[in-house]
Amino acid sequence: MASSNREEISIQDEAVDKSKFKTCKQIAFYRRQKRLCPGKSLYRALLDTVELSNSYVKFEIVNEECKVTLLVEIYEIEGNIFRLKINEKTPLKPRYEVPNVLIKEPACLRLTVSQKDTNKLVLACANEEQQLHITANPFQIQLVSKDETILSMNSNGLLYFEHFRLPPQFRKSTLQEKEDGSAKPSKEDQEDFGLWEEKFGHFLDIKANGPSSIGLDFSLHGFEHVYGIPQHAETLLLKNTSHSDAYRLYNLDVFGYKIHSKMGIYGSVPLLLAHKPDRTIGIFWLNSSETLVEIATKAAMEVNALPDFGSCMNVLLQCLGVLPSRAPDISKQRVLPQTDVRWMSESGIIDTFILMGPLPFDIFKQYAQLTGTQALPPLFSLGYHQCRWNYKDEEDVEDVDAGFDVSDIPYDVMWLDIEHTDGKRYFTWDKEKFGNPERLQKQILMKKKRKLVVILDPHIKVDPLYTIYSEAKEKGYYVKDHKGKDFEGICWPGLSSYLDFTNPEVREWYADQFAFETYKGSSEILFAWNDMNEPSVFRGVELTMQKDAVHYGKWEHREVHNLYGFYQQMATAEGLIRRSGGLERPFVLTRSFFAGSQKYGAVWTGDNRADWRYLKISIPMLLTISMAGISFCGADVGGFIGDPEPELLVRWYQAGALQPFFRGHANMQTKRREPWLFGEENTQIIRDAIKERYALLPYLYSLFYRSHTVSEPVMRPVWVEFPKELETFGIEDEYMLGNALLVYPVSEPKVTAVNVFLPGPQEIWYDFRKFLCLEGQGIVKIPVTLSNIPVMQRGGTIIPLKTSVGKSTEWMVDVPYELHIALDTKESAAGELYLDDGHSFQYVREKQFLLRKFTFHNNVFSSRCADENGQFHTKCVVEQILILGIKKKPSSVLASIHDGKDKAVAFTYDAKNSVLTLQKISLNVGIDWVLRIK
Ligand code: NOJ
Repeated sequence: MASSNREEISIQDEAVDKSKFKTCKQIAFYRRQKRLCPGKSLYRALLDTVELSNSYVKFEIVNEECKVTLLVEIYEIEGNIFRLKINEKTPLKPRYEVPNVLIKEPACLRLTVSQKDTNKLVLACANEEQQLHITANPFQIQLVSKDETILSMNSNGLLYFEHFRLPPQFRKSTLQEKEDGSAKPSKEDQEDFGLWEEKFGHFLDIKANGPSSIGLDFSLHGFEHVYGIPQHAETLLLKNTSHSDAYRLYNLDVFGYKIHSKMGIYGSVPLLLAHKPDRTIGIFWLNSSETLVEIATKAAMEVNALPDFGSCMNVLLQCLGVLPSRAPDISKQRVLPQTDVRWMSESGIIDTFILMGPLPFDIFKQYAQLTGTQALPPLFSLGYHQCRWNYKDEEDVEDVDAGFDVSDIPYDVMWLDIEHTDGKRYFTWDKEKFGNPERLQKQILMKKKRKLVVILDPHIKVDPLYTIYSEAKEKGYYVKDHKGKDFEGICWPGLSSYLDFTNPEVREWYADQFAFETYKGSSEILFAWNDMNEPSVFRGVELTMQKDAVHYGKWEHREVHNLYGFYQQMATAEGLIRRSGGLERPFVLTRSFFAGSQKYGAVWTGDNRADWRYLKISIPMLLTISMAGISFCGADVGGFIGDPEPELLVRWYQAGALQPFFRGHANMQTKRREPWLFGEENTQIIRDAIKERYALLPYLYSLFYRSHTVSEPVMRPVWVEFPKELETFGIEDEYMLGNALLVYPVSEPKVTAVNVFLPGPQEIWYDFRKFLCLEGQGIVKIPVTLSNIPVMQRGGTIIPLKTSVGKSTEWMVDVPYELHIALDTKESAAGELYLDDGHSFQYVREKQFLLRKFTFHNNVFSSRCADENGQFHTKCVVEQILILGIKKKPSSVLASIHDGKDKAVAFTYDAKNSVLTLQKISLNVGIDWVLRIK
């Protein structure tokens, strides 16, 4: 016993000791690609090979030095998207193309040739405003909209494509051959550039396919603000990488990751957004191998310039009266901003989508059209989650659960970390500490209408007596090493094998493990948490699996690395759906993710620290993940590593309560930190924050419905709502929750006032809690106390809330609603409410839902149906309505139901703050009615 304990502790220490992660210079394909400098491209398009079909344009390009031919395919996709694919014309064997991420084969439109000569091909798009200009020599593509070049590809000549080749021993004159056409490799190069082998520390990566990296540059004309490519602990605006490492997209387990670093952490979404006041565009680089992104932004500037010949002629012609005299000062030239983005991936093909916007919300739609929208979460999962590594035993769980009731704090989900299992064998229970999981679930949690989440990591303990292990072993379901044996690495259970989730059969089998009869001790209130799925391998290279491991279809791990966690979450979600006979929505939290993970559940930002700087950085991190399609995201409240001082804990609860996924979590070595352990004053503040979230759940759930149906991020940067306002483009210390709430999380200690930027010259903002109209525009100083963080409601919006909160979401089903109507300058407002059973798929199968539209205009409020397809019976009423910004006291308020009589509504009016409160309305939320304010 003692010795096994010691072994466990040393394994944990190893995880903490993040051996070494690579810098860019330690990555061989980066060094190889960096030999190619911006300049004339080595590629020439063979325009006589152009082939047009109903859905694509194809042609060949040839590398002038190594004479390798590549095939280019261009597609225009419905919805203002372009796709560019580049692959070898005749590869020695197929190259990896990412499967399962695109939700369907995109519907293509016909491109037509509008101009063609020896060096140029102009393609007219179905969207008549746009054209594609293809230059043959040097090869480049420009996307032109209304005569303005929006984006060009390969204009810096950085298209890079390492073709598959025979290993050196099978070739005649290896050293004479050029590997990519950019330089002749010497013997020395072979080692330095890691063509067939790559060393890192004592690790050796054997590259059975040799070098196969790809790269391409994009110039974004007129853009100097770029965002996206999570996950990094970095600012919202992407930084220039000219003098630093590139942004790395490589899923890694980095305990207590460094802040302001471009290194890869747990998840990757290769989606970049660029924004200027009149347009947003996106680049989606569909590649699941290790990827590096370089950014070079040139800001707009005025420069002194010598007049060129053209300008002189203009002036001359103006003097002669031929041209109107409106020429600018010719000694000043405005240089347009530009951002150059260079993508480099270790393998696969070039498969990239240009999302043409033009609005930020169009980008979100276009991206979701390709990769899917956020799964609609079960309502309970929007409540508060209580986690800790670990709750010791069933008694401990019971005590904590009861603690919430005693402290009058709502919560929905109790979490069990790895120690609940029998020796880290997932799908089992520790016989002593969790000997009666059915009782825990059925007698304790279920009775209180609460849920349980348990952890299920992808590594499987090597133990022939463990059924999961032996069954998977027998079926050949593990990832293999490069010699063909089951890959074995160290993780929590000690020696482990890793399920190959890229294999559809393994996913099926894994999903079946969630069947109630198979997963002993599980019940319908048990949901799942996928951790360590980068995958984390303690003694592995960079704490992950070596790239020469082999997956289903003989693909190397190198090709699929960033997809591993995506596939585990996919299989887990499927398992939870399947065990309910396809009826119930799953809830799965994953640490590792990729493009499209939004379809399977939620993500969190991993092992952060109980440190103010981590609270602060969590805002841009969550905003970036949200913009990349994954709305359901959160950070460990309190900070996972270390003990938060009470003030930090309080501030983190206040922030987390207004973020999509809300879970308190703490590392093993930390002190207990349940919300009631920090004195009554702090408990009260945390209680208020959590209760406010529960009151806001109708709004939050409606936002998730929008995210699910029309792909709007739940939590969004301020600029997304105010895309024309330059001052908002870099804001990352405040954010919008939906279109109605502006949230400013306090992320510094002992703050007595904060500077909040209130956007929109035409906007009115109201204090969400005091209902006062805030004076001023732009930066406004707002006093703060510890009791809450600034939250403002935007004029013109209507927010649905619950009038009281219960022990958990399920206790609140019939609680009446309250609406907060905040009037804009035209004394109007609009909002909506989505409602369904909160847990099943009946909303989609049987259209059992309600989508209600609320409007306020000309002193008339109306509640009506916004989607005639939906029907759902509810007893719930709207009990109270607050109207903020109403200028004068009404003489009467009348309510009328479409077929009934008018009835007078009781009200009070606060003249000082211009707030009208309508009380005891008691009208069903599912029927149409109006209120007239006289
Ligand atoms: C690492 C995860 O990030 C953390 O949240 C979890 O508590 C530990 N693994 C133990 O499972």
